Amino acid sequence: GPTCAVIAYKCPRIKVTIVDVNETRINAWNSDHLPIYEPGLDEVVFERRGKNLFFTTEVENAINEADLIFVSVNTPTKKAGMGAGYAADLAYIESATRQIAEVARSSKIVVEKSTVPCRTAESMRTILEANSHDDIRFDILSNPEFLAEGTAINDLLHPDRVLIGGLQTPEGYKAQQALVEVYEHWVPRDKIITTNLWSSELSKLAANALLAQRISSINALSAICEATGADIDEVAYACGRDSRIGPRFLKASVGFGGSCFQKDILNLVYLSEQLNLPEVAAYWKQVVDLNEYQKKRFVSRIIKTLFNTITNKRIAVLGFAFKKDTGDTRESAAITLCKDFIQENARVRIYDPKVSEQQIFLDLSEPGRVIIARSAYEASENADAIVVATEWDEFKELDYESIYKKMNKPAFIFDGRLILDAEKLKSIGFRVHTI
Ligand code: UGA
Repeated sequence: GPTCAVIAYKCPRIKVTIVDVNETRINAWNSDHLPIYEPGLDEVVFERRGKNLFFTTEVENAINEADLIFVSVNTPTKKAGMGAGYAADLAYIESATRQIAEVARSSKIVVEKSTVPCRTAESMRTILEANSHDDIRFDILSNPEFLAEGTAINDLLHPDRVLIGGLQTPEGYKAQQALVEVYEHWVPRDKIITTNLWSSELSKLAANALLAQRISSINALSAICEATGADIDEVAYACGRDSRIGPRFLKASVGFGGSCFQKDILNLVYLSEQLNLPEVAAYWKQVVDLNEYQKKRFVSRIIKTLFNTITNKRIAVLGFAFKKDTGDTRESAAITLCKDFIQENARVRIYDPKVSEQQIFLDLSEPGRVIIARSAYEASENADAIVVATEWDEFKELDYESIYKKMNKPAFIFDGRLILDAEKLKSIGFRVHTI
């Protein structure tokens, strides 16, 4: 949605049609309330919708009309069968590819946009070629997405780079050039990288693995800080000042979430195992294991601090999204925390500015005595402890004096995101615990 909306926005002469089999979603894209929250998205969509940007469930028509097709279906981790828990489920990729092959009446450039294991394009190509009719050719490209949620529109308008992988054949180069020309409407040519197909596919997994690895590295160091009295923000700052390391993506947290990091690393682990590289697989697997450890470590610290039991205690959880400025909860650390609190029979009140009540109940599956609050103030009334799970800006600005007055004493705050002014909170009377 965001990517193709930005293409439509920047290329007024290109007609962009976004199709989905889910009618409710398409209706939402065509309404005043878009189905996802993303700063700046409304403006882009409302500006071009009905002009050169269309949302429809008429998949076959759209395939036929198009010169270039982005396959952007989801590739979740397999739940059963071979590679369960690790490998990507490519069923949607395959059915979308087969549908293109069956329906197309003219040549197409098919672009793999979904994050896929290395060499998936080869399978897509085999399916397309086996099904192509006379005079119809299919060219395959890989064009992975690098936007991050919450900053998607800005990332798309000002990308660090755009990556386009293609076959190293004359036709492959021609197809690559066609997509380069789309991005060239707004992205400087030197930021558009062209590579072979497999490099492009692997670079997507590699970039996410490297980013997640930084977070697990800093979180591993946070455990050492907590045991020694060193301050992880100070350590991150001191290390980040080395220009070879750089300051970004070194914020310790209660653990990374989101639909991509864990899934993509597990994909890389599976790929390494398939390639008979067990040491490589174990290396990357540890990034995910450390992330799980970080979440569990935070929960046990909370329980220990609350006198070794949270049964019947009231815990206010501030934030449920996997990061700020998004309503997305996929793999959010808050889910693990809340599930653990529920297991321990605590009374949990959750507040998130963008996540719906329905979504929270869906994520918790057995919500027990969970209540959804309409504000941070409501969530923390009569609470024994506040747990900050998402780094929403508004949590920095709360009137903690009045929150303190209405909490049970001693009043605890556990800052899982290192966003609060611990000294100030202590002076109000809070017992403050941070990562
Ligand atoms: C990530 C990558 O950053 C994007 O480049 C990539 O395109 C995207 O995955 C994808 O594959 O689709 P995203 O998951 O949206 O983007 O969000 P991130 O900003 O990467 O944050 C992921 C998680 O790491 C969040 O839970 C965030 O709170 C956490 N995080 C991030 C930290 O704990 N510390 C940090 O320093 C940075």
